[in-house]
Amino acid sequence: MLMKSYITTPIYYVNGSPHIGHAFTSIMADILKRNRQALGYEMMLSTGVDEHGQKNQEAAEDLGMPVTDYLDMRCKEFRDVFEQLGVEFDYFVRTSREGHKTAVAEMEQRIFDKGLIVKKQYTGIYCKGCEEFKKESDLTEDGQCPLHPTMKVEQTDETNYFLKMEPFREKLLKHIDDNPDFVQPEPFKNELKKMLAEPLEDLCISRPKTRVTLGVDLPFDPDFVTYVWFDALANYLTNIGWPEDGYQDWWAECEHMIGKDILKPHGVYWPLMLMAADLPLPKKLSVHSHWVGAGGVKMSKSIGNVVDPIEVMDKLGVDALRWYLARHMRADTDSQISVDLITQAYNSELGNKIGNLLSRVAKFSNKNFDGKVPMPGALTAEDEALRNTVVEAGKAFAGWINLQDIPVATQQIVDAAVAMNEYIDQQAPWSLFKNEETRERCATVLYVTLDCQRILFEALTQVIPGSAARALGMLNAPQAATPWAPELDKLAGGTELGEIDALFPRVQ
Ligand code: MSP
Repeated sequence: MLMKSYITTPIYYVNGSPHIGHAFTSIMADILKRNRQALGYEMMLSTGVDEHGQKNQEAAEDLGMPVTDYLDMRCKEFRDVFEQLGVEFDYFVRTSREGHKTAVAEMEQRIFDKGLIVKKQYTGIYCKGCEEFKKESDLTEDGQCPLHPTMKVEQTDETNYFLKMEPFREKLLKHIDDNPDFVQPEPFKNELKKMLAEPLEDLCISRPKTRVTLGVDLPFDPDFVTYVWFDALANYLTNIGWPEDGYQDWWAECEHMIGKDILKPHGVYWPLMLMAADLPLPKKLSVHSHWVGAGGVKMSKSIGNVVDPIEVMDKLGVDALRWYLARHMRADTDSQISVDLITQAYNSELGNKIGNLLSRVAKFSNKNFDGKVPMPGALTAEDEALRNTVVEAGKAFAGWINLQDIPVATQQIVDAAVAMNEYIDQQAPWSLFKNEETRERCATVLYVTLDCQRILFEALTQVIPGSAARALGMLNAPQAATPWAPELDKLAGGTELGEIDALFPRVQ
């Protein structure tokens, strides 16, 4: 039986169009899905939209649209963009789905029946941007939410339902210590442990319908809807059919990809909700930092440094974007992005280092070796050294890649491509071809290069699947095996080459 693996992305608020941050997490999840598939896993990747809450409700009102029309429009927009980005999701989440709503109510009722939900009066400050209550100490000096400085926080005085979190805090801390992989990378684990160092206040899990109507009705009080975070987090289970049987195998192997902005809901609220409902915790939280504009400036419409994923795809193609996000993210600090930086990486890494060599060598073989992959002769120490470098670089993609390892694994491919360019410069097959006596050597050099290229592009299938498939088509490479491994000599000498064109044409 195939082993299972379940990867989730956050479900995104639909109060605006999909942006680069949304594209990023879903693309990284897609890369990891392709990696697990190459290892032979049966995969489930979920991504989608978070349709409830005050923010979405107000966005529909602002456009003067009936809320369901608004949600349908945005949902289609997100789905279309993810498809264009090559995100091969198996399940697209909509929290407005009836089955999701019934399951959320079921989870609440179970926790309520255990006496872990209480009703009480609460006075507090609310940030609509975070859809969260804030403490004074969470705010900036001028009393605003640091994450949403342009949205005014609201003073609220309401009766609501609250989940008791404190009874489970110690148990969660122990779980984190007993399962070193539960939160990665390390700095975020430490941050989470800090959040759990002090006694936890009860978590408000409802909103009165007088204020918010867009949400799941509380099963035990029709005057309230469920707090959007409670409802949204539950998606990870409702997607795989909870509470019906059958979800367990996927759930046991579940990995959540999240940005650092939502560590608290995923690292505190969600595990404690699950404990309260007597359900097992997910296997892993993989946390990433954020993208900021060039120079480290936060992206904003007024500065004009927002990177629009559609605009980048139109200018440079989807793989330029996927490549930049994969190769240039940093594991635990924010990374910079701009259309210029993406263009530079596209031209220099994909174009000059990886793509040009393929077209040069394949075109030369095409012209001088009868449109075929040349037949190799005896190998030299230089040939073996290059082959070894390429196999070593490919190995990361034959193993389990963690979110924070993606930039390292992709850099190894660039390094191998650089080694290949150096090899070609030294071996100079174009000169070797000129003399009858060195023609066999020329054939060997071309063969070694083309077979090594095949390995690199097989590995890159996990990152830039469209371009990698085109490259492998030019080589007419045989279907790669699953589980995948960087194996030499799978491209037979004498194979007819496919049609050869520039893989990553230069863009100014
Ligand atoms: N709806 C909640 C999540 C519920 S999950 C049960 C939400 N939505 S969101 O639209 O604000 O998306 C937040 C997520 O988008 C981040 O956690 C991250 O995955 C991604 N990003 C948003 N901005 C980002 C950057 N600037 N950089 C990288 N990713 C960021 O929170």
